[in-house]
Amino acid sequence: MSIAPTLSQIGHYVMIIAMNQKTFFISGVAGFLGSHVADALIEKGHRVIGVDNLIGGYLDNVNPKVEFHQIDLIDRAELVPLLKGVDVIYHCAATAYEGLSVFSPHLVSQNVYGITTSLLSAAVTNKVKRFVHCSSMARYGTQEVVPFTEDMTPLPQDPYGIAKYAAELQVKNICSVHGMEYVIAVPHNIIGARQKYDDPYRNVASIMINLMLQGRQPFIYGDGEQKRCFSFVEDVVLPLMKLGESPDVVGEIINIGPDEEFVTINTLAQTVARLLDFKLDPIYMAGRPQEVRHATCSADKARRLIGYKTTTTLEEGLQEMIKHIRERGTKPFLYHLDLEIDNEMTPRTWKEKLM
Ligand SMILES: NC(=O)c1ccc[n+]([C@@H]2O[C@H](COP(=O)([O-])OP(=O)(O)OC[C@H]3O[C@@H](n4cnc5c(N)ncnc54)[C@H](O)[C@@H]3O)[C@@H](O)[C@H]2O)c1
Repeated sequence: MSIAPTLSQIGHYVMIIAMNQKTFFISGVAGFLGSHVADALIEKGHRVIGVDNLIGGYLDNVNPKVEFHQIDLIDRAELVPLLKGVDVIYHCAATAYEGLSVFSPHLVSQNVYGITTSLLSAAVTNKVKRFVHCSSMARYGTQEVVPFTEDMTPLPQDPYGIAKYAAELQVKNICSVHGMEYVIAVPHNIIGARQKYDDPYRNVASIMINLMLQGRQPFIYGDGEQKRCFSFVEDVVLPLMKLGESPDVVGEIINIGPDEEFVTINTLAQTVARLLDFKLDPIYMAGRPQEVRHATCSADKARRLIGYKTTTTLEEGLQEMIKHIRERGTKPFLYHLDLEIDNEMTPRTWKEKLM
């Protein structure tokens, strides 16, 4: 007996897929997270429209099946026609520069807070059903206790964190008033392939790998004992898929990231060096103003609401990144953003372009 599906069965499956197919819009689709979200949605058979102005990210991150538009999200008029018929928005675009925001507050606020308002307004105009907003752990700032839980009052302590929290308030307000579903995801430091690694202003693990692969020592701000938690990108994308569809998460703020593997920046450097068989002798620089000492989040709510779990350890995630950067080739660092404020607190790595 043949086990090959009949033509009518194939037609039936195609119909089921077509019935479940939705239209998604991803902001920041050339970026690290946005490009992985796009891949996951395309894999599920959905239509994906994506925008990016390429201030960050890489054009070749964009899946060829994405209907891509190179526009600046601040331009609401350009956005309105693109959002026609969109079911769900994943808002991944941002200039996610926490340290730099102390010295370039205008650039960072415009591309965090300003673009969120523009996108929300265009989304409401088009009656989009759900807005999945990517916030950041920077919203918490320095709290009296760690790990951070979603019920803590946000205490952001730099322009990036402030803009992220203000953007959340806009999401809640505009969505509640105009009847659009929303969910606020709070990812932690994410690692994985496709992250920008020639950017001197952010992505500590990528910067370390790019430098060490060039035989150069990494820079560490302060004593390196500040603690962080890293998530592998696939362990963020899967929960984000659930936030786009689950009825149980509407109106919620949910931390997305592991709460079991906290490491110091010194340990991160040692781990990368060990994986690369590199003789480590980090260059310690003055601490960056406003840097949060210990930033770790609880994943309890995510476990409860969406069955969150991690599948990839820090070391496995770093191996993936190393493989990816080796394949693409190391790159010189590009000082592509304006330092609006240049004073005695501005890190020398940026002022003097040391990387
Ligand atoms: N990567 C992390 O560690 C991390 C951690 C917590 C939160 N987040 C959040 O997740 C989201 C994605 O971060 P990412 O690491 O993928 O960043 P990314 O820089 O790789 O991607 C962001 C993309 O947004 C685009 N963009 C920025 N401003 C824009 C504008 N005005 N118009 C159009 N496009 C614009 C950039 O060009 C870039 O491609 C951000 O909101 C970030 O704040 C990231």
